[in-house]
Amino acid sequence: HLILSELDTQGKIEDTRTLMLPGASQLAVSQDDQLHILGALNSLLSREMVTYTTQEIQSHVLSDEGKQIALQGSHEARVWNALPVKGEGKPLGPKDLKAKIGDESAKIGQGVAFKNGWIGKDADGFVKLVTSIHDSTQEDMREVDSTGTLKAGEKALAALRKRKLITQKKGQWFTVHKGPHFSAKVEKQETDLTTEMLTSGSWKTSTYKKYNFEADGIPTAGGALHPLLKVREEIRNIFLEMGFAEMPTASYVESGFWCFDSLFVPQQHPARDLQDTFYLSDPAVSLPPPQDYYKTVSEVHEKGGYGSIGYRAPWSEADSRKLLLRTHTTASSAALLRTIATQPGGFKPAKLFSIDRVFRNEATDATHLAEFHQVEGVVADRNLTLADLIGFMRVFFSKMGIHQLRFKPAYNPYTEPSLEIFAFHPMLKKWVEIGNSGMFRPEMLEPMGFPKDVRVHGWGLSLERPTMIRYGINNIRTLVGHKTSIEAVERSPSVRF
Ligand code: PHE
Repeated sequence: HLILSELDTQGKIEDTRTLMLPGASQLAVSQDDQLHILGALNSLLSREMVTYTTQEIQSHVLSDEGKQIALQGSHEARVWNALPVKGEGKPLGPKDLKAKIGDESAKIGQGVAFKNGWIGKDADGFVKLVTSIHDSTQEDMREVDSTGTLKAGEKALAALRKRKLITQKKGQWFTVHKGPHFSAKVEKQETDLTTEMLTSGSWKTSTYKKYNFEADGIPTAGGALHPLLKVREEIRNIFLEMGFAEMPTASYVESGFWCFDSLFVPQQHPARDLQDTFYLSDPAVSLPPPQDYYKTVSEVHEKGGYGSIGYRAPWSEADSRKLLLRTHTTASSAALLRTIATQPGGFKPAKLFSIDRVFRNEATDATHLAEFHQVEGVVADRNLTLADLIGFMRVFFSKMGIHQLRFKPAYNPYTEPSLEIFAFHPMLKKWVEIGNSGMFRPEMLEPMGFPKDVRVHGWGLSLERPTMIRYGINNIRTLVGHKTSIEAVERSPSVRF
C-alpha cells in the first residue's frame, strides 16, 4: 500500500531507502527493511502493477563483538563504568578490574580509556578522571546496525572493519516505476476459472493472477507399497536366500480334482461343501484332467493302493470336475509336484515356494476375510524325515525374527504326520498359531509318479497374520478393503523385525 500510494502521488520512487515503513521511527535504510520491500515489490511485479530496478551497494553488518558493543557499550566504556571516581572510592587494581568485567574487556578497554583521558592511575589502581563519557564506538555500532553504513564515511568504516567490529556485505535498494497494470489499490486476483464465474459472466471483468511457471509445484504423489506387499517381499527374500524357487500360482480357478482329489482329500470332506468353498457357475465344469493320473487318483480314493485301503466311498467325477476358487495354494503346489515327479531325466530334489491369494466361503470377522494370502513352502528329496521339516521351519521362522516355536500334532487329509506351528509372541506374551505343516502322504505322492523313497514336506501360513502383528493392526478391514486408508499405506514404515 505504501509503495502504491507513493507511486500514485509521486509517479515513481527513486530510492526505496527514502520510504518510511508503517510503524517505523526512521527511514527504511536497513537491509532488513529493503528485503521486506523487495517481497512486496515482487508480489506487485507478478501482477504487473510495478516495475523496478535493483541498485547494488556495499553495506555493513555487525560482528558478534560489534553486536555486544551495540548492546553493552565498548570495552573502554565498560572499564570506565567499573571504576570509582577519583577520591570517592577504593581504586581498582588490574586483577580486580579483570574479575569485574572479564579479561578481554579489561585488556582492550584499559589502553583506549587511558588514551581518551577517561581513567588514570591512583595509588596501585585505576580511577575515573571524568564524570561522564561519550561512547562513540557504541554509537557507531548502533548506526551501522540500523543503516548498514556510517555518516562519517568510508574512513571510519574501514577503521571499524580493521577492529573486526563490522564486516562488509552486499546490500541493495530499488527504484520503482508504475507497471502496465498499475492501480492505487490491490484488487483480488482470481486463481481459478469456476463454473460460477462462467455462468454469471463475471469472468469478463475479473483480474487473474499471472501464471508462475517458475514455481516448484506440488510434489507428485508416487505409488506406495501396501504393507502386505512389503511383508511378501521379505518372506520371498527369505525363501530365495534359502535356495527356494517360486512356483507359478496364477490360476485362482482350479478344479475339485487339483484342489482336493489330487491331495487325497476325500470327496465327502466338509471343506468341499458349498458353505466352505466358492464354486463357479459359468463355466461350472473343468476340462478333463490327465487321463492316466485321474484314473489312478480316483482308484486310490475308492479302492486304495500303495499300501492304503483308500476311503472306500463312491467316487463322483462331477465333484472332481467342478470349478472353484482355490481354497489353498497347495492346489497349485500339487500340479507342480506332479510335473517334477514325472520330469524327463527322472526325479531331482526341489525346494519350492509360493505366496498368493486363496478364497474361502467363510463368515468374515475382525481377523478373517473371504480372501487372503497363503505363504507355502514345499521340499522334495529322498529320505526326508520329520526332523528335516522341523529343522527347516526353525531356520525359516528364525529368519522372520521368530525364535520360539512349538509343534502340535494335527490332522490334514494330505499329510501324515501333520504339525500345527505355534510361536511365542513377545508383545502379546502368549503362544499364537502361525502355520500348518506336514509330510505329504504316499497316497498323494505315489500316484503323481514320485519314486518310493522320495518324501515331500510342506508348510503353509497366512501372509495377513504376520503383517497385522508387525504393523500393530488388529482389524483386518483396516489392512484390506475399502476401509483401508491410502494415507496410512503411504506412511507405513518399511518392515521391522
Ligand atoms: N494347505 C494347508 C492350509 O491351507 C497348509 C499346508 C501346506 C499344510 C503344506 C501342509 C503342507 O492350511
